[in-house]
Amino acid sequence: MINPLRGMKDLTFDESARFVHIVTTAIKIAKRYGYSYIETPILEETALFRRSVGESSDIVGKEMYQFEDKGGNDVCMRPEGTAGIVRAFVSAKLDRQPMKQKFYYYGPMFRYERPQKGRLREFHQFGCESFGEASVLEDFTIITMIGQIFDALGIGYDLLINSLGCPSCMPAYRENLVGFLTEIKSDLCEDCNRRIDSNPIRVLDCKNKKCQTLLADSPKLIDNLCEACDADFKKLTALLDRASISYTVDTNLVRGLDYYNKTAFEFISNEIGSQSAIAGGGRYDKLVEYLDGKPTPGIGFALGIERIMPLVQMPEREREGYYLGAMVPEAVKRLLLLAKKKRITDKVTVEYNSKGFKSHMKGADKVHARYALLIGEDELKNSTVWIKDLETKEEKVLSLEAF
Ligand code: HAM
Repeated sequence: MINPLRGMKDLTFDESARFVHIVTTAIKIAKRYGYSYIETPILEETALFRRSVGESSDIVGKEMYQFEDKGGNDVCMRPEGTAGIVRAFVSAKLDRQPMKQKFYYYGPMFRYERPQKGRLREFHQFGCESFGEASVLEDFTIITMIGQIFDALGIGYDLLINSLGCPSCMPAYRENLVGFLTEIKSDLCEDCNRRIDSNPIRVLDCKNKKCQTLLADSPKLIDNLCEACDADFKKLTALLDRASISYTVDTNLVRGLDYYNKTAFEFISNEIGSQSAIAGGGRYDKLVEYLDGKPTPGIGFALGIERIMPLVQMPEREREGYYLGAMVPEAVKRLLLLAKKKRITDKVTVEYNSKGFKSHMKGADKVHARYALLIGEDELKNSTVWIKDLETKEEKVLSLEAF
C-alpha cells in the first residue's frame, strides 16, 4: 500500500467538510471587504523566495522543497503565498495602476519542517493581500476582518501585535540590539549566535528558555520607533481599543519572514498545543519594490487551514434535496428521468437497486435528504409518485407531471 509522504495528509469526510466550510466562510467575508480571487502557480523560481522571504529565514535556509527541473531551472514549491502574489502583481503591471487592489487566495504551501502536531510539510492557507494603502487604518481593517472570520467559524483567539519599524528607525535599533546581544553572546544558543550576524531581530523570537530569560532586558523595538511608526502604532492600538478588540503587545513578535515592516501580528489559540499560531501577517511596504515593481505599500495575512480545522464549530447539517427509490425494477428508468429534471435546481440521490420501503427510508436518512420519493407498482401504473417530507413527516401522492 502506498501512503502519503511524511507530513502530508489526505483530507476526507469530516476533514474535507471542515476545509470547505473554512474556505467558503473566509471567502464570503473577504468579498465583503472588497477582495477578489487570485491564483498563482505552486512552482516558482527559487530566486523569488530568496529575495522576498529572505536568505536568513528558516523557510528559505532550511525548509524549501527546491529542485532543478528538466530544463535546468532552479525552482521551488511555494512555502507561502505572499511572494507569488506580489510577483504576479508586478508581472501583470498592476503596480502601474492608480487604484488599490485586494486579493484573496487559498491553496497548498510546502515547508520541509520536522512534522509534529499542527505542523505539516504540505499544509493549506487562506490569505489576503491588500496593495496600495499605506494608512494604518488598513491594518486595523485587516485585523478586524480576520477576527470576523474566526468569529464566524466559532474559534476563540488571542491577538498579538508589534511594530517592526521602518528603514528610518530599524537600522539604529538593529545596531543597538546587536550591541546588547554581543555582550551576552556566549550564553545564547547556537541558533541565536548564528542570527546575531545574519538577522539579529530573529534572536528575539528564540524559543529556548535560557535565551528568553537573557533577552528579557533586551532593547525593545517598540521603544525605538521613529515618530511616524510610533504614531501609527499608537493609532492602531487606539482603534483596537475603541472597537473592543483585545490584543497583547508582544515586543518579541518578529515573524519568520523577512519582508515585514511596521505592523506585524499573529492570532494564536491556546487549544491546539505548541503550534499555536492560527494566522499571521503584517505590512510589507518595500516588497513590491524588492521584486522590481513601482513602490507600493502592502499588507496581508494568512491563516493555517489544518491548524484551525479541529477548532471549527461546524453548523448542524440540514436535510437537503431528494432521495429517489424504486420499489420495483421497472420504476428505475422513470426515476432517472425525474432526477435529471430535478437536478437542475436540487440535490438528488438515486438508488439504482429496487428495494423494500424500510430499506429506502434508511437510505434517505443516510444521505440526509429532505424528501424521500418512491415509485412502486401502483405509482407506476397511475403515473404518480409517493413523497414524504422527512422533516415535517407529511406524506403525499402526487401526479408525475405535478412533481
Ligand atoms: P506564516 O506565519 O508563515 O505567514 O504562516 C501563516 C499561517 O500558516 C500560520 O499562522 C499557521 O497557521 C500556518 N502554518 C505555517 N506553517 C505551517 C505548517 N508547517 N503546518 C501547518 N500550518 C502552518 C505567511 O505564510 C505569510 N505569507 C502571511 C502573510 C500574508 N503575510 C502577509 N501576507
